[in-house]
Amino acid sequence: MTTLHITLLSHGNRLGGIERELRETGNLVEVVDSAGTASLHAGLRATSILIVDCCGEAAPALARLESMLDGAPPVPVIAVCEEQTPGFLIEAMRVGVREVLTLPIGAGDLAGAIARVSRRSASLRAGQARVLAFASCKGGSGATFLACNLAHALANRPGVRVALFDLNTQSGDAYVYLAEGEPTHTLSDVLSGIHRLDPAFLGACLSRVAPGLSVLAAPGDPAAAVQSRAEHIGQLLALARREFDFLILDTGRSVDPLTIRALDEADRIYAVLQPSVPYVRGARHATALFQGLDYDMDKVGYIVNRCGSAGDFSLGDVEAALGRKIARAIPNHYEAVAASINQGVPIGTLAPRSPVSRALRDWSASLSDDQADGQPGWIARALGWRSGATQFRKAPARA
Ligand SMILES: Nc1ncnc2c1ncn2[C@@H]1O[C@H](COP(=O)(O)OP(=O)(O)OP(=O)(O)O)[C@@H](O)[C@H]1O
Ligand SMILES: [Mg+2]
Repeated sequence: MTTLHITLLSHGNRLGGIERELRETGNLVEVVDSAGTASLHAGLRATSILIVDCCGEAAPALARLESMLDGAPPVPVIAVCEEQTPGFLIEAMRVGVREVLTLPIGAGDLAGAIARVSRRSASLRAGQARVLAFASCKGGSGATFLACNLAHALANRPGVRVALFDLNTQSGDAYVYLAEGEPTHTLSDVLSGIHRLDPAFLGACLSRVAPGLSVLAAPGDPAAAVQSRAEHIGQLLALARREFDFLILDTGRSVDPLTIRALDEADRIYAVLQPSVPYVRGARHATALFQGLDYDMDKVGYIVNRCGSAGDFSLGDVEAALGRKIARAIPNHYEAVAASINQGVPIGTLAPRSPVSRALRDWSASLSDDQADGQPGWIARALGWRSGATQFRKAPARA
């Protein structure tokens, strides 16, 4: 049996029973009281699982947990409470808790929760990040907007770490869609320092634009990146796959050795178009390109953006004209999208009720691992759960 390093964040001796059970089953256990949370941040790199006492006043405990996890190395969290109220479960999920145990803990519940979170973190450490590339079938389709805002919606899922790489070396603008000002580092810094690429160097070149979301901005000097060799992108993605849960690539419209290598590496390519003739023509050209590159066409998902404007094609028309199934349709909502881009604030933050925000949340939910396999959403399960561990479980990714 693997020895786990488990940290218990507790007040008094409330988690004494858990500590005993964990030690008896051969784990390394460290108990930290609330005064020790400041030094815990750095120590989380060595922790396999963090168990947090949320009994009594749950809200401050979750708030402390949230600030402690912000910017910390990824660690699966189990919360222990006295009562699983809907408010507590929602807040726990929001701050990144993977499992909830209720005191008194039933036989087998602790072991079950530990086994589930260990399985999940093992799969993350094994380099399971999904690489999703966004390609624009024709200029202005909305590929950058969707890449940025799907990345943001994914990062809002509990415990999901996302990096967005802007590979549009000629005119990349993903950073300004999500943040104000200028990035301190860009893709050309990473590519020119590729010989010393490691997690720390990559981390230093990323801009953290929201909790769980980092951006590698496009180079300020297009010439620098164009000269970079395509295999450097391979090296960069191989490292980033181990550090994140999702890598979102904005490849824009450029077809060059660098973007082709990125498309080769992608698990899924989203070809973004709009429901009108010029975009459908652009999508046909993109299809010919992907076929020319010998891609399995199951890897390509056609995303129709700005649906619902009068006079445009219906989705059926687009499918018929393209001879391909549409993976996802995103509604048109110019006002909210333009405000989000102009202010550099993700649409899910600026206009959470926009139909576009809703569509992006749906998309992120179907991609992320927080919905139960073919089951109702986690909250429905949590509310129907009587005792023991509530899990926020994995699902196969769709779309
Ligand atoms: N769902 C939407 N509803 C309304 N407007 C949208 C939507 N998506 C994108 N737009 C508009 O389309 C414009 C172009 O979007 P974006 O820059 O993401 O396209 P792009 O495909 O990345 O373009 P490029 O090929 O130049 O990189 C944006 O300025 C935005 O106003
Ligand atoms: Mg773009």
